[in-house]
Amino acid sequence: MSNFYDVLIIGGGVNGCSIAYQLSKRNIKVAVLEKTRVGAEASSAAAGMLGAQAEIKEKSPFFDFARQSRDMFPELVPELEEKSGVSVSFIKNGMLKVADSEMEKERLLEMLAFQKQEGEQVEWFTNRDIQDMERGITGDNFGGLYIRGDGQVKAAELTKAYARAAAFEGAEIYEDTPVLNILKENKKAIGVQTPAGAVYADKVVLAGGAWSNMTVSEEDQLPPLVPVKGECVSLRPVKPVIDTTLHASDFYLVPKPGGSIIIGATEHEGEMGKKVSAGAVQSLLSKAFSLVPDLQQAEWETAWTGVRPQTFDGKPYLGRSPIDGLWIAAGHYRNGILLSALTGKWMADLMEGKAEVQEWISAFSPQRTVIQKEGTPVDINH
Ligand code: FAD
Ligand code: GLY
Repeated sequence: MSNFYDVLIIGGGVNGCSIAYQLSKRNIKVAVLEKTRVGAEASSAAAGMLGAQAEIKEKSPFFDFARQSRDMFPELVPELEEKSGVSVSFIKNGMLKVADSEMEKERLLEMLAFQKQEGEQVEWFTNRDIQDMERGITGDNFGGLYIRGDGQVKAAELTKAYARAAAFEGAEIYEDTPVLNILKENKKAIGVQTPAGAVYADKVVLAGGAWSNMTVSEEDQLPPLVPVKGECVSLRPVKPVIDTTLHASDFYLVPKPGGSIIIGATEHEGEMGKKVSAGAVQSLLSKAFSLVPDLQQAEWETAWTGVRPQTFDGKPYLGRSPIDGLWIAAGHYRNGILLSALTGKWMADLMEGKAEVQEWISAFSPQRTVIQKEGTPVDINH
């Protein structure tokens, strides 16, 4: 490892690796420091949905960021696959967002209206339309949204592909390299401390997912992050039962290329453990069986957990931290796979002073907590 980089990235999850890819493409000397393995945490636990329209419920800068990120995948994936040699199984199989109550139907109709206004492809399907499209769904429901444009990838593979493509472009990726703390001089971040010694950089990016704040001391007052543990299970049906991703109000079924179906996911706020509880498995399976009864014949594959990094307002922190020289790309909560494409490009644009969408600068500024608390705007472009 060299002693000095233009940019050091803490964390080899999907977002750290995407940022490394975009920076190294611009000939910026960058290293990723990962405490265990690339994609070891949330980025390998994710179901891989690119659910810009399925998961974001209202018109906002966040919705625009999410759909722009989703729309990067058709061009980005072939580029990553060629440079990395890793297939990420990107498919645009659409999503059916099924209403399980009259109230949910009202909510989905509101989503339909705003998404149409925004020029997105989205249609209302009746119970009958849903059952005609997906014959595995037999029980009654209240109709739902059919979203043609939302697709999916294999999340662990996407993370690996970003990392290998970044290395292809010259980035250095160091696994088994925990960052112990951030080195500062005159209140400016100048590098990091690892067990192998100090490494210096012009800019340090904190992309440690739900662990991001643990790398800095409390007095640094980074914006808050709450871990939200999620459990998923995977089944292998004896014959195909669904083709489209099904998204209900508190669970989803994602049919993966290769034949497995991921059923997700629980939400346990404040938890970081790795244990899958029997109750979580029972609850996920019973919801899945009630929507697609044939899944009861499926073969059991496996179950796992991951920790989502949640911010105080549900939007990621992307930009300068209160500490000069320290940048943050964390807090992607339920959508880090979807958001990874634009997160990489946006962070590279911000660090190069080329970011132009003012709405996004303010909406995702890690200093927006300060803005809210004190009621006075902070100069986020200092
Ligand atoms: P992480 O993947 O957590 O990566 C952070 C990395 O930083 C880790 O590898 C960690 O080891 C490393 N690290 C931390 N501290 C240090 C340190 N001090 N030194 C060195 N390295 C460090 N999103 C979607 O878009 N679609 C989905 O379908 C989806 N499904 C999900 C299902 C579940 C069950 C869960 C839990 C999440 C899901 N998500 C989904 C959310 C998504 O997984 C996350 O938002 C995303 O993976 C966060 O990526 P990250 O790179 O920010 O963090
Ligand atoms: N976006 C799916 C999840 O976080 O479970």
